[in-house]
Amino acid sequence: MNKLKIILFVLLGLVINFSKAVLIESELIQADLIINALQLDGEDPCFLFACETDLNSFQHVVEIEITDLIISSNDLKNIDFSVFTWLRKLVLGAQCAIPQNILSQISNLANLQTIDLYDTVYSENVNLPVSLTTIIFNDFQGIFYTRWVSTEVITLYVIETTQFSVEGSFSRNEELTQLQFPVTSSGFISLKDSFPYVIDVTIIMKDMEYSGTGFIPASYLGSFNSLPQLKYLTFKNNDLQKLIYFPDLSKLTTLSSVVVIGEIFALSTNQIIDLSNNYPNLKISILNTDEFLKTCNNCIKLPKDSEFMLETVNVKIDSLDLSNVSIIDFSEIEPEQTVSFKNFDFSKLSELTLTYSKVSGDLPEDLCLIDFTKVEIQHNFFATKIPSCYLCTKSNIVRGSILPNSFTNFESSCPNFSIDPVPQYFLADTSGLDITITGNNLGFDEEDIALDNIQLFKYVIPHKKIVFSIRPGVGSINQTSTISFYNGPKTIEFLYNYIKPTIEGYFTDLDNGAINFVGSGFDYENKKTFVFVNDFEELYVSAFHSEINYFSFDPNELKETTLTVGESFNIQVDVGGQRSNIATFVYSDENIEIHNSTIKIVNTGSTVTIVGVFKTEQISDVKLVVGNILCTVSKVSPDSLTFNFPKSVDTVGIYRLDLYIQGLYAYTNAEITQENVEPTKKPSTPRPNNSDSDSDNISSAFKLGFSIYSVLFVLLVSLF
Ligand SMILES: *[C@@H]1O[C@H](CO)[C@@H](O)[C@H](O)[C@H]1NC(C)=O
Ligand SMILES: *[C@@H]1O[C@H](CO)[C@@H](O)[C@H](O)[C@H]1NC(C)=O
Ligand SMILES: *[C@@H]1O[C@H](CO)[C@@H](O)[C@H](O)[C@H]1NC(C)=O
Ligand SMILES: *[C@@H]1O[C@H](CO)[C@@H](O)[C@H](O)[C@H]1NC(C)=O
Ligand SMILES: *[C@@H]1O[C@H](CO)[C@@H](O)[C@H](O)[C@H]1NC(C)=O
Ligand SMILES: *[C@@H]1O[C@H](CO)[C@@H](O)[C@H](O)[C@H]1NC(C)=O
Repeated sequence: MNKLKIILFVLLGLVINFSKAVLIESELIQADLIINALQLDGEDPCFLFACETDLNSFQHVVEIEITDLIISSNDLKNIDFSVFTWLRKLVLGAQCAIPQNILSQISNLANLQTIDLYDTVYSENVNLPVSLTTIIFNDFQGIFYTRWVSTEVITLYVIETTQFSVEGSFSRNEELTQLQFPVTSSGFISLKDSFPYVIDVTIIMKDMEYSGTGFIPASYLGSFNSLPQLKYLTFKNNDLQKLIYFPDLSKLTTLSSVVVIGEIFALSTNQIIDLSNNYPNLKISILNTDEFLKTCNNCIKLPKDSEFMLETVNVKIDSLDLSNVSIIDFSEIEPEQTVSFKNFDFSKLSELTLTYSKVSGDLPEDLCLIDFTKVEIQHNFFATKIPSCYLCTKSNIVRGSILPNSFTNFESSCPNFSIDPVPQYFLADTSGLDITITGNNLGFDEEDIALDNIQLFKYVIPHKKIVFSIRPGVGSINQTSTISFYNGPKTIEFLYNYIKPTIEGYFTDLDNGAINFVGSGFDYENKKTFVFVNDFEELYVSAFHSEINYFSFDPNELKETTLTVGESFNIQVDVGGQRSNIATFVYSDENIEIHNSTIKIVNTGSTVTIVGVFKTEQISDVKLVVGNILCTVSKVSPDSLTFNFPKSVDTVGIYRLDLYIQGLYAYTNAEITQENVEPTKKPSTPRPNNSDSDSDNISSAFKLGFSIYSVLFVLLVSLF
C-alpha cells in the first residue's frame, strides 16, 4: 500500500506541473486542512477543487467535490466551510466525516447552489442560502425546516432520517422535479400544492404515529391527483411498522415506472391498483412483501405492453390479470402453488422469467412462441407437461433456463419434430444470401444440429425456423450442404448455387470517368468475369464493391466500341458462367444526386420529400426502393422528389434508399422508425441555470472524484 501511495504522489507530481494558486488566505488555510485530511499534502487546492479569480487576482474555491472513490476515510469534522464564500457546489461523499454545524457553516454562502452530503447532517435552526437548487442529505437528524426549500430548488433528497420531523409547510415550488422524502407522522407532503411538477418521486415510508385501529388510511400519503409530469414513483420502506392502504393512483396518466420496495401496503377489499391510464410500456416492480398482494384478486390493471416485476412476493399468480403484460419477471414467489397460465397472453409476451419459486402446473405449448433466449423457468416444481419445443434439446443454454425442475421425462423422444419440405435447390446471392429451413422443434442452437459446408446460421424464431447464411462467393457449380438434427434424428441435404447477376443502374465517378454499374450477383473474388458492351466482349478489370454492390468500368479502355454522351448502349455481365440481363442505358457523364444524408421514415406510412439533382419531371422515369420495399413516387422535379413509403410495420432500422432515374443511380440512407404512440406531454417548465455548467472562470476543470482516480489507476496498472 505504501509503495502504491508513493507512486501515486509521484504520478500526481508528474501529471500536474503547476504553481501554487494565490488563494485568499482564509480559504487557503481551510483548503490545506482538507488536503491534509485527504492525505494529498502539498497539492494545489485549485488543482483539486475548482477555483475562480476575483478582480484583485485572488482565487476562490467554487466547487468542492469529494466523491466515494477516495480510498481512505476523510475526517473533515474540523474544517470551517464558511470561509468559502464563492462556493457554488459542496459534495462530500461516503468517506467524509463532516462538521456537526455544517448547516450554520453554509448558511451564509450566498452562491451555493448544490449541497450533497453523505454523513449525518444535524438540524440547526438557521436559514440556508436561497441560491440552493439541489439539496441532498443522505442522513439527516432532527427538524427539517421547510423554509430551506426555496422556489428555485429542483432536487430535494432527504433519505435516511432519525428523530425526524418537519416544521412549517412547503411553499409552492414549480421547479422541483426530483424528490425523495420521508413520510412524517402527520403524513406526506401534499405534492399537488407544493411540488405539482415533480417528475421523479421516492416516498420513504417511516413509522407513523397512527392511533386508529387497523391499517393506516391511504390519505396519509396525500392525493395523487393533478401531477401532470409524474413519471417515476417509488415507495420504499424504511422502518415502517404498520401497513398503509394502497393509495388511489388511477388519476395519474404520465407514469412510466411504479416501484414498491418492502412491507408497506395493504389492499382494502376488492381494491384495484389501476394504472391502466398511463403510457404503454409501464414498468411496475413490487419487491419484498408478504402482505400486499396476498389477497389480490385481479387487483392490478396495467396499460398495454407493460413490464411486471415481482421479487420475493407472496401472491397467487393466477389471481393477477397479466393480459396486458409483455415482460414478466417473477422470482421467489410464495406460496407453493399450481399456475394455470390462463391469465397470460402469450401472443404479446416477449419475455417470461418465473424462477426460484415453488410453482408447478402444465407449461403451455404457447411458451414456444417466446424467443427461447427470453424464457427462464428454472428452479420450480414443474413436472408434468413440457412444451414440445423444449423436449430433448441438447442445448446447455436452453436446458439451464428450463432445468432444474421436477420433470422425469425431459429426455424422452421428440414426437413433434418435423421439417417442412425443403427445396432441393437454393439460389444464393454472391454477397451471401440467407437460406431458410422451416419446421417444428428444430432445436435451439449449435448443440442441436451439425452443419456441413455452411458458414453461419441463426434461429429467427425458436425451434421453427433456421436461417443459414451462405458464404459469399461466385460460380455456377452446384454446392452441396448437409444439416444433421440431433433432435430427430434426421439429416437433410440440399444444393445451392449462386444467383445470376443483374444490372440495374449506373453512376459515373466524376474524378476518373469510370462508370460504376449497380446490381447484384457480382463477383467478389474478381475471377471469371466478362463485360459485354454493345455486344463486344471486354475483360473486366476493377474489383466489385460490396457496399452498394457495383463494379467499375473504364470506358476509355473499351477496345471495340466507344460511348457517346446522349446515345444509348447495352451492357451485360458474365459472372462465373452466368450471364446477367442486357441493360440498355442512355450514356450520360453527369450523375443524379440526393442531397439529404440520412432521411427519417416512419414505418406506418410516410410521405417523404428529398432534394437533389433529378433531371426529370416524369414519374415513370423514376424507380425508388428503400431496403427491399418499392415506393410510389408522387412528384418529381429537377430538384425535388416526393414519394410514399408504404405501411410496413416490421421494418425498423437503417436501410439504403436506392434511386434509379433512366438508369442513373444514386443512394442515401433511410432511418426507419416505429411511430411513437405516447400521448403528447405537457412542455416541461424552464429550469434555473445549472450550477454544473462549465464556466470560463474556473481555473481548473479537474474535480477530485472519479476522473483523477481512474486516470491514476490506469497509469498504475500500466506500470506493473
Ligand atoms: C467570471 O467572474 C466574474 C467575476 O470575477 C463574473 O463577473 C463573470 O460573470 C464570470 N464569468 C463567467 C463566465 O462565469
Ligand atoms: C388492458 O389494457 C386496456 C387498454 O389500455 C385497458 O382498458 C384494460 O383495463 C387493461 N386490462 C388490464 C387487466 O390491465
Ligand atoms: C405436438 O404438437 C401438437 C400441436 O402442435 C401439440 O398439441 C402436442 O402437445 C405436441 N406434442 C407434444 C409431445 O408436446
Ligand atoms: C444445379 O442443380 C439444379 C437442381 O438439381 C439443376 O437444375 C441445375 O441444372 C444444376 N446446375 C448445374 C450447373 O449443375
Ligand atoms: C431533405 O432536405 C431538405 C432540404 O434540407 C428538407 O427540406 C427535407 O425535409 C429533407 N427531407 C428529409 C426526408 O429529411
Ligand atoms: C440564466 O442565465 C441567463 C443568461 O445567462 C439569464 O438571463 C437568466 O436570468 C439566468 N436565470 C437564472 C434563474 O439564474
